[in-house]
Amino acid sequence: MTTLAIHNARVIDPKLGLDGVMDIVVVDGRIGRIGPNEAEMVIDAERIDASGLTVTPGFVDLHCHLREPGFEHKETIATGTLAAAKGGFTTVCAMPNTEPPLDSQATAESVLHQIEQSAQIRVLPIGCVTLGRAGTELAPAAELVESGVVAISDDGDAVANTALMQAALSYSSLFALPVVQHAEDPALVANGQIHEGWISTRLGLRGRPSSAEEILVARDIALAEVTGGHLHLAHISTSGSVSLIAAAKARGIHVTAEVTPHHLTLTHEIVAFDGQSSAIRYDTSAKVNPPLREPRDLEILTEALAQGIVDAIATDHAPHSKSDKEIEFDLAAPGISMLETAFGLAMKRVHDGSLNLPTLIKTLTSGPVDSWSLENRTNTPGLGTLSPGSPADIAIIDPDLLWKVDTQEFLSKGKNTPVDGWELKGKVLATIFTGEPVFVDPEMSSRLRLN
Ligand code: DOR
Repeated sequence: MTTLAIHNARVIDPKLGLDGVMDIVVVDGRIGRIGPNEAEMVIDAERIDASGLTVTPGFVDLHCHLREPGFEHKETIATGTLAAAKGGFTTVCAMPNTEPPLDSQATAESVLHQIEQSAQIRVLPIGCVTLGRAGTELAPAAELVESGVVAISDDGDAVANTALMQAALSYSSLFALPVVQHAEDPALVANGQIHEGWISTRLGLRGRPSSAEEILVARDIALAEVTGGHLHLAHISTSGSVSLIAAAKARGIHVTAEVTPHHLTLTHEIVAFDGQSSAIRYDTSAKVNPPLREPRDLEILTEALAQGIVDAIATDHAPHSKSDKEIEFDLAAPGISMLETAFGLAMKRVHDGSLNLPTLIKTLTSGPVDSWSLENRTNTPGLGTLSPGSPADIAIIDPDLLWKVDTQEFLSKGKNTPVDGWELKGKVLATIFTGEPVFVDPEMSSRLRLN
C-alpha cells in the first residue's frame, strides 16, 4: 500500500464544510484520513510539508477545448491535461468542436481511447447537440450518453434553431443530460469582433451586443421550463444574463451556469489599451467569444458567483496557434488559453475583497460537480471533495504567492493570452491525481519527501 501524508495544510473543502489546519493521509490513491495531526503516527509514507499552504480538492473544469482529434497543432489531450494539472485541475470536460466533431458513438469511442492513452488527469468528453455541429439535425443523444459523454453542446456556436433546442432539452429530461448552450444569437453577432460598446466604435470593429446573449438565455430558459430539461449556460458574460438566471432559478427551472476567469476580471478595454500608454492597439489575444464586457458586468458576475446564482468557474481554455492569432483582427480565431492562469486570475476577485477564498474554491470544485451531478454520472462518489474514500484529487496552492505569467513556460501549446507578463497573486504549487503528483512547481520541491 502506498501512503502519502500531507502535513499541516489549511484545508478548505466547501462541500465538507472544512476550513482549518490539518493533515491528509492518502492510501492507495484514495483519501484515507483527514483531520488535525492525522499524519503524525503514519509510518513509511511519502510526505509533503504543506505548512503555510492551502490544500483543496482538485479543481474541476466544465469547459475546455483539448482540440484532439483534428487540431493537434493547437493542443492535444496530452498537452492540454498537463496544462490543466499545472492549473490545479484534476477533472476537465472537453468540448466536441474537434474534427471530426464528437457526434457519434464511433468518435466517442476513439476519443475515449485517446484519453486512456494520453490523459494525465480525468477527462470527461462532451458530445455534440447537432450532427457535425451544423445546427440542422440532432446528434444521437441516447447513443452518446451510452458512450459516456457527460453533456451535449455545440459550443463555439449556439444552437440557434428554436425547435432543435427544444428537442435537445426534451431528450435532456429523459437522460438527465445537461444541454450546454453557447448563448449568442448568430443573427445578432453576425461578423462581430468584440463587445459592442465604445471600444468597438473607437476601433471601428463590428460589435457583438449583450442582447445577443440575453435573447438566447431568455429563450432557452423558457424552453427548459416547457421541457423540464437541464439547461447549462456556458461562459455567461452580461449582467442581464445574471438577472434572467436568478429569476429562472427562483422559479425552480433546471438551469445552471458558468463564468470564466476572464469574464470576471478583464474588460473590453484591454483589446485597445495595455493600461500603460494611451496608444491604441488591436490585441487579438483578447478576442474571445462571448467578448470581454464592461466593468459593471464584471461586478454583477462576481456577485452572482458569490451568491450561487452562477454555479461554477469554467476556463473555456481555447488554445490557438500563433498563425491563428497573429493576423488581421477580423480573421483571428477567438479564444484564450486559460488553464494555467485560471486560478491566479480568479484570485484577483479574492484579493480585491469581492469573493472569499472558500467561495472561490467551491466554484472550482463542488460547484461544477454538483451542477452536472458528476458524482453519479461518472460513478465517482466524493468527486470534488476530500471525503474519505474519494479519489485523492488534490490541489496545493499558495493564495498569496506573487508570480509572473510567462507564456514560454506554458505547458499548453496555446500561448494566446492577454495576461502574458502580468503579475498575479495566487499560484498552484502542486496537483495530485488519484494519489500521484501530476504537477509539482519547483517552489515545492524542497517540501516533498517522496520515496
Ligand atoms: O472564444 C471562443 N473560442 N469561444 C468559444 O466558444 C469557442 C472557443 C474555441 O473553440 O476556440
